[in-house]
Amino acid sequence: MAIKYDKIIASEIISQFGGRPEMLVQVLHALVERYGYISDEAIRQVATELNISRAEVHGVVSFYHDFRTSPPAKHILKICQAEACQAMGSRQLTAHAESKLGVQMHGSTDNVTLEPVYCLGNCACSPAVIIDDKVYGRVDANKLDKLIDECGV
Ligand code: FES
Repeated sequence: MAIKYDKIIASEIISQFGGRPEMLVQVLHALVERYGYISDEAIRQVATELNISRAEVHGVVSFYHDFRTSPPAKHILKICQAEACQAMGSRQLTAHAESKLGVQMHGSTDNVTLEPVYCLGNCACSPAVIIDDKVYGRVDANKLDKLIDECGV
């Protein structure tokens, strides 16, 4: 769940990385960890405090899908797209999730944001998904439907 952006706390987060422009990706990860997404306000502040252009920050934010630019829904469902899970049907599971939720990957309903993830360390139980902080293995369409329903789609 996203929390309200606070410039003072954001500044503390940015300064943890020494105000070094080469730490931009790490700074952005830390801000996503704290706020759930990178707002326009965050882009402006990061650019100012790292002494780089807003275009540079925006370029990195838009390059990496990990950096959401809008608040996530109440629940975040990530479906593993790495090799072991693909071999066990994660692409079909993803298509099923997109159809059930009515959104594409990186999209959100009111309650669920759908995102890819690349290996959850649960390869022996592929295909794997994670909802918020809980990992589920051997997820088929029926199991995914139940998990999504529990999120209150
Ligand atoms: S490849 Fe999916 S959990 Fe490792």
